[in-house]
Amino acid sequence: MDKLLVHGGSPIHGAITISGSKNASLPILAAALLTEEDVVIRRVPDVSDTNYMVQILTGLGADVERFSGTVRITASEISDTAPYDIVRRMRASVCMMGPLLARKQRCVVALPGGCVIGDRPIDLHIRGLEALGATSEFEGGNVILTAPHGLKGATVDLCGENGPTVLGTDNVMMAATLAEGTTTITSAACEPEVVDLAEFLNSMGAKITGAGTPIITIEGVSKLHGTVHNVIPDRIEAGTFMVAAALAGDGVTLRRVHEGHLVAITAALRKAGHQVHFNNTGDACTVHRGDTPMPVEIVTEPYPGYPTDMQAQMTALFAMTPGSSVVVDTIFPQRFMHCAELKRMGADIHVADGKAVIKGVKSLSGAPVMASDLRASAALVLAGLVAKGTTEINRLYHIDRGYEHIDEKLLALGANVERVRER
Ligand code: EPU
Repeated sequence: MDKLLVHGGSPIHGAITISGSKNASLPILAAALLTEEDVVIRRVPDVSDTNYMVQILTGLGADVERFSGTVRITASEISDTAPYDIVRRMRASVCMMGPLLARKQRCVVALPGGCVIGDRPIDLHIRGLEALGATSEFEGGNVILTAPHGLKGATVDLCGENGPTVLGTDNVMMAATLAEGTTTITSAACEPEVVDLAEFLNSMGAKITGAGTPIITIEGVSKLHGTVHNVIPDRIEAGTFMVAAALAGDGVTLRRVHEGHLVAITAALRKAGHQVHFNNTGDACTVHRGDTPMPVEIVTEPYPGYPTDMQAQMTALFAMTPGSSVVVDTIFPQRFMHCAELKRMGADIHVADGKAVIKGVKSLSGAPVMASDLRASAALVLAGLVAKGTTEINRLYHIDRGYEHIDEKLLALGANVERVRER
C-alpha cells in the first residue's frame, strides 16, 4: 500500500491539464454493454475505479483494450452475472444493472452495502427498473433483476429523501434505451455526468431528450450501435485543484475545464475572497489566493448547486480562513470523516447533525493521518500543502480511486510531495 508524504509550505504555481471525469466514465463504460459493436471511449482517467470497471466488463465476457486514456470495448457475448470479487470493491458497479438488464433481460449484481460516506441504499434504482417491468429478488447478497419479456417504457419519479439520484437516473436511462415505448424520468439528476452519458447513448442511436433537466424522455429503440466518445473534464478534480490554489497557490492555471460545470465552486471561492479567472473560451481557469480570505457558508445540493464531492476540500480551505465558516451536507449528512483527521492537524471544527462549523486557525501542523474516502483524502492532501512540517497520508488507495496521478500533478505545480510504500 502506498502513502503520500506532503511536506508543507511550498507555494504551488504553474499549469496542469485536468483529466477526464471519473464519474462520467464509469456509467459510460458500463453502457458499452448495450451494443455488440465496438465502442471507443477516450479520456478515461487512469484511476483504480475505472480499472475496476474494466475488470468487471472483462469478467462479463467483453473484449477490452486500454491504451493512453482510450478504452475500446467489444461486448459481443456477455454473461448476466457481474463478478462479486470486483463488484464489491466499488459501489458504482450498481450502474451495471441497467445495461445488463436491457441487454440480457436478467442481471445478477452484488449489493454494494454501506460505505464510509453513508448508508447508500439502491431503492430508487430498483424502483425505476421495476417501473420498466423488471422484477427484483434479493438473494445471497445479490440483487437479481429479471424481465423475461423485455422492458416497457413508463413514467418514473426518481426523487428520494435527499433529492434525485445520479447513478439511479443513469441506470433507468440506460435500461430505457432498449425498452419498448417511451420512458419519462421525473426528478431526474441534472449533473453534467448524466448529460455526458445521454450524449454517449444518443451517439449509439438512442433517442434521449431533456438530459440536464429534471425531466428526461427516452424513446426506446430496438438496437444500439458502436460509437466513439470523448469523456467530459472532471469537474471535481478541477474544483480540488482550484481549492488547492486558493489555499497554497501563487497563480495556478487549470487547462481543459468546463466553466459551465464549475459555477457553484467558482462562486464559493470568490465569495471566500479568492480570484478565479476563466479564459474567453471557458476551458481554462487561473486561480489566485486572495489577500483577505473570508468565512463562507456552503450547503451541498444536487447540481447545479454546490457538490457534495467538493465539501471536504472546501473544509480544508476554511480550516485556515479567518472567522467561522459553515459546511452543511444535505446529500450525505454523515460525510464528515475528514474533520476528525483535520482536527489532528490543528483545525478547529465542530461537527453535528450534518453540519461542520470551522473556525479558521493561523496554522496547521503536519501529522500522520488516515484517508477514509476519496474526497476526504483530497482534503487531507490540501491541508498538508499549507501545514507546517510533513503530513503523512495513509491508505492512499482511496485517493487513487478517483484522482489521476495526483502526486505527479502536484509535483508539476511545485508542491513537495512523495509517494512511498507503507511499511
Ligand atoms: N439515494 C437513495 N436511494 C437510492 C440512491 C440514492 O436514497 O436508491 C440517496 C443517497 O443515499 C444520497 C442521495 O440519494 O443521499 C444521492 O445519491 P446518488 O444516488 O446521487 O449518489 P450516487 O449516484 O451513488 C454519485 C457519485 C458520487 C456523488 C453522488 C452525489 C458516481 C460514480 N458517484 O453517486 O461521487 O457523491 O453521485 O453527487 O457518479 C465521489 O466521486 O467521491 C462520489 C462519492
